[in-house]
Amino acid sequence: MNRTLFDNALAAAAKIAAATPNQRSFVPWPEAMPFTARSPVAIPAIGEMQRHSGLANALTQPLQSALLALAPFVEWRQTYSEAEVGRDFLNRFGWFELAGPRDGYFQTDITRMTVGFWGPNLHYPWHSHEPEELYFVVSGTGIFEVAGQEPRTLQAGDTIFHAANQPHALTTDASGILTFVLWRGDGLADPPKMAG
Ligand SMILES: [Fe+2]
Repeated sequence: MNRTLFDNALAAAAKIAAATPNQRSFVPWPEAMPFTARSPVAIPAIGEMQRHSGLANALTQPLQSALLALAPFVEWRQTYSEAEVGRDFLNRFGWFELAGPRDGYFQTDITRMTVGFWGPNLHYPWHSHEPEELYFVVSGTGIFEVAGQEPRTLQAGDTIFHAANQPHALTTDASGILTFVLWRGDGLADPPKMAG
């Protein structure tokens, strides 16, 4: 466990938030966040992420680099079962909680900050959750679908908002996608649920 790598990732995320109006207005950046060490959990997607995290831009490149350096040391999670999403998905997907009310590295009650990676040509099926959500694309591209809206292809620096319990889905193409995700509202510590 290398504490500096966690501090670097949080600092890089904070710089982006300060420069991104959609993030600034979604939730204030928490002041002091106590750190808790957690045991790493390795997943196959770490290698995929090193190879296929996709294009960053000038704003997001420091966070992409910090997350790639941090990836071998984090407690990765996958939430879904093979029956729900398939083995290929589980081999090339993962997320971890950088900050949050209960299971993150940095403790805060006002938001949950997670990092998610999907490799190329994956479909993250329709799902929903009670907290409101703001996705920020760190690198790569993805087609984001939200119930009742036209699909949008997002790239580094783009954001998309999901309302409480609003179903959404994500599909990657030739590029994987690395995302930084903020939640706010009730149910912050709960996992998302697949539709149906
Ligand atoms: Fe979501």
